[in-house]
Amino acid sequence: MTALVDRFGRRHDYLRISVTDRCNLRCVYCMPEDMAFLPQRQLLTDDEIVAVVRVAAQLGVRKLRITGGEPLVRPGLADLVARLAAIPGIEDIALTTNGIFLAEQAEALRRAGVRRVNVSLDSLKPDRFRRITRRGELERVLEGIEQALAVGFSPVKLNCVLVKGVNDDEIVDFIRLTLERPLHVRFIEYMPIGHHAEWKAGYVPLTDVLARAEAAGLPLEPADDAVPGNGPAEVYRVRGALGTVGLIHPVSDHFCAGCNRLRLTADGYLKPCLYWVEELRVRDCIGDEEKLRALFFRALALKPEKHEMARAGEALDDGRVPTWRRMSQIG
Ligand code: GTP
Ligand code: 5AD
Ligand code: SF4
Repeated sequence: MTALVDRFGRRHDYLRISVTDRCNLRCVYCMPEDMAFLPQRQLLTDDEIVAVVRVAAQLGVRKLRITGGEPLVRPGLADLVARLAAIPGIEDIALTTNGIFLAEQAEALRRAGVRRVNVSLDSLKPDRFRRITRRGELERVLEGIEQALAVGFSPVKLNCVLVKGVNDDEIVDFIRLTLERPLHVRFIEYMPIGHHAEWKAGYVPLTDVLARAEAAGLPLEPADDAVPGNGPAEVYRVRGALGTVGLIHPVSDHFCAGCNRLRLTADGYLKPCLYWVEELRVRDCIGDEEKLRALFFRALALKPEKHEMARAGEALDDGRVPTWRRMSQIG
């Protein structure tokens, strides 16, 4: 069967599946306090997601990442994962979570077939963590991370979105976390995504991280092969540390040229690029594998060579807006 290679020669073997747009937190950089969520009936059912992934796997998708919103708020997630893991061709299932329900669910998810987890963690100070997430309890996330290590997820990555004046003074504390535990901290540039105006004030370039590590006596050395399934991160390590430090700079250095990912939104749209307005509705094709296959190829044909992040939230010349969705509505 033909593989998913686009007009620019990029082979797509990675599908990110958002299983819900809901979240139990309201991180300030991600969504407003009064975020409106989709009615339940608009979410794809387990059967629909399985049908889409079956076709994706026939077309060469090998790696899935389960995202949200917060994926662990979807009832029965472990059962869905087990069904996805059983699809021929699927080799790797990863999860991105805020960690609040991870301590409870880690074992079931591991047993169902999740191998790797990325946990969002933007502060190590309980009060600040609560302010950033507008309601989260840091202790629960830390327990979730411990449990993730205990049940054998590997690697366990921590996603830290740096926002100026909010958490950029904790860079060294995060690096220290990698010294004695196999934790892979990734500092992520804050991206404008459906909220261009607020974004500008908070953006921190990542050039700071290496300098601050050096100044703290923890110089970072390149370690690009140290973590499997590296995606877009540039990876470093403090000599002798068990974990690593990654830099993800979607803003200052786009990684479009090597992009291997497609997305399935919780409301059932195939999205060729994080920052592209066109999306294709999968619901009309469920039950007809030929139509679903054609939809994947149409999505690939729509995928731009690079995205228009700089203009997220603004209209393009032809009147379209690169993305109207917030990150939690994409995954
Ligand atoms: P792995 O490489 O498999 O560990 O996943 P990942 O790092 O891509 O996934 P994760 O869900 O942990 O996302 C981490 C960060 O990468 C997010 O905060 C985003 O900033 C960024 N990101 C994820 N996907 C994309 C994408 O398609 N385009 C861009 N520009 N940024 C992305
Ligand atoms: N910029 C960068 N990363 C973001 N995330 C959510 N919103 C943004 C943003 N505006 C991150 C979350 C999570 C990952 C899936 O995306 O922290 O770790
Ligand atoms: Fe929820 Fe993740 Fe968005 Fe925070 S960043 S509000 S945890 S979806």
